[in-house]
Amino acid sequence: MALLGVVVRALIVAAAAAVASGSGLPVPGYDGLAVGFYRKTCPQAEELVLAEMREIVAEDRTLGPALLRFMLHDCFVRGCDASIMLISRNQTGERDAVPSYSLRGYEQIERIKSRLEEACPMTVSCADIIVMAARDAVYLSKGPRYPVETGRRDGKVSCDMDANNDLPPPGSNIVDLKIYFSVKNLGWKDLVVLSGSHTIGRAQCGSFAGDRLYNYSGQGKQDPSLNATYAPELRKACVAGDPKDETFVEMDPGSPYTFDLSYYREVYSNKGLFVSDQALLADKWTRDYVARMASAYSTDEYFRDYAEAMTNMGRLEVLTGDNGEIRKVCSAYVD
Ligand code: HEM
Ligand SMILES: *[C@@H]1O[C@H](CO)[C@@H](O)[C@H](O)[C@H]1NC(C)=O
Ligand SMILES: *[C@@H]1O[C@H](CO)[C@@H](O)[C@H](O)[C@H]1NC(C)=O
Ligand SMILES: *[C@@H]1O[C@H](CO)[C@@H](O)[C@H](O)[C@H]1NC(C)=O
Repeated sequence: MALLGVVVRALIVAAAAAVASGSGLPVPGYDGLAVGFYRKTCPQAEELVLAEMREIVAEDRTLGPALLRFMLHDCFVRGCDASIMLISRNQTGERDAVPSYSLRGYEQIERIKSRLEEACPMTVSCADIIVMAARDAVYLSKGPRYPVETGRRDGKVSCDMDANNDLPPPGSNIVDLKIYFSVKNLGWKDLVVLSGSHTIGRAQCGSFAGDRLYNYSGQGKQDPSLNATYAPELRKACVAGDPKDETFVEMDPGSPYTFDLSYYREVYSNKGLFVSDQALLADKWTRDYVARMASAYSTDEYFRDYAEAMTNMGRLEVLTGDNGEIRKVCSAYVD
């Protein structure tokens, strides 16, 4: 159902873009974004975000991965506009949508925002804070610290259906994944590179145990593609096969807080946690990439690819210039 929604929306978006460009109207792009957008208006912005992120991760290291995932949930749903933060009064917002169920990081984004409000009132958008926090979450887990584009403004609309339709569920196969990404103008390379984010963090049994351990394709059995040596370990952690089981499992058990290439080694030996991780082996291009990264000696190429793919994701449907607003409180109520 969700996928059907995505396909329909893709057609609508494509049609709207065609109409807009055909009639000479500007199609919203990422024109207003620039590295160092706050250089004059708030020169210490990036430094302050990093300092705050250091404290946040030192207090609770599980918040690093959470804040990386936060950017996906903002950018894939109505663009990188901080709409994930809004508390909706009159309709169900993105925050309360099913795919956001286990999302964490709301208070931390607000905390970084208040630090920036002290330094440079009403200047730095919540949308940019989300993107900078994700970048620093990667860096603080020994990943690259790539330059981030800033200049996004905050949106005022948040609707649960957008989250339901646009976020790929963990049970997605390779065909579904490519559609979810292509709707966002992201290609197979963005898909395979960004999936490597699962080199840090954890997932709840409820997100994968049904698909992979107990009820593969609704057949009441284990996913035959799952590594048979690894499966018993997962079954030990996720005993019940209950879709609401909130027990956490590390996605990259060897180094769950280190941003490295081990995700690709895991996936290549059929130990990816989700159907969507395993699915990267089902397509020639993504499979070749997984294989190459699984045996790479250096992280250089991957870190370069990651910077590029995160920049692409950071450009999704952004509000710039006079569009949107700068909010004082990221979660501010909307009607
Ligand atoms: C390709 C499609 C993707 C699917 C189907 C997917 C799905 C999921 C799911 C189900 C979880 C676990 C949620 C839970 O059980 O609590 C998760 C965690 C995570 N995802 Fe993804 N994801 C995808 C892509 C991405 C991308 C593009 C990023 C990049 C930002 C990302 C970053 C993360 C991180 C860092 C976590 C760990 C969160 C934590 O430890 O709190 N994922 N993902
Ligand atoms: C397995 O999936 C099928 C089809 O979705 C469903 O009818 C069945 O109830 C599920 N079984 C269990 C044990 O969850
Ligand atoms: C399963 O994982 C082990 C390492 O834990 C690996 O040696 C083996 O090759 C994997 N099997 C498959 C079929 O990928
Ligand atoms: C939205 O809800 C608030 C508080 O519940 C109410 O005051 C406001 O009038 C509502 N707005 C609309 C457009 O219905």
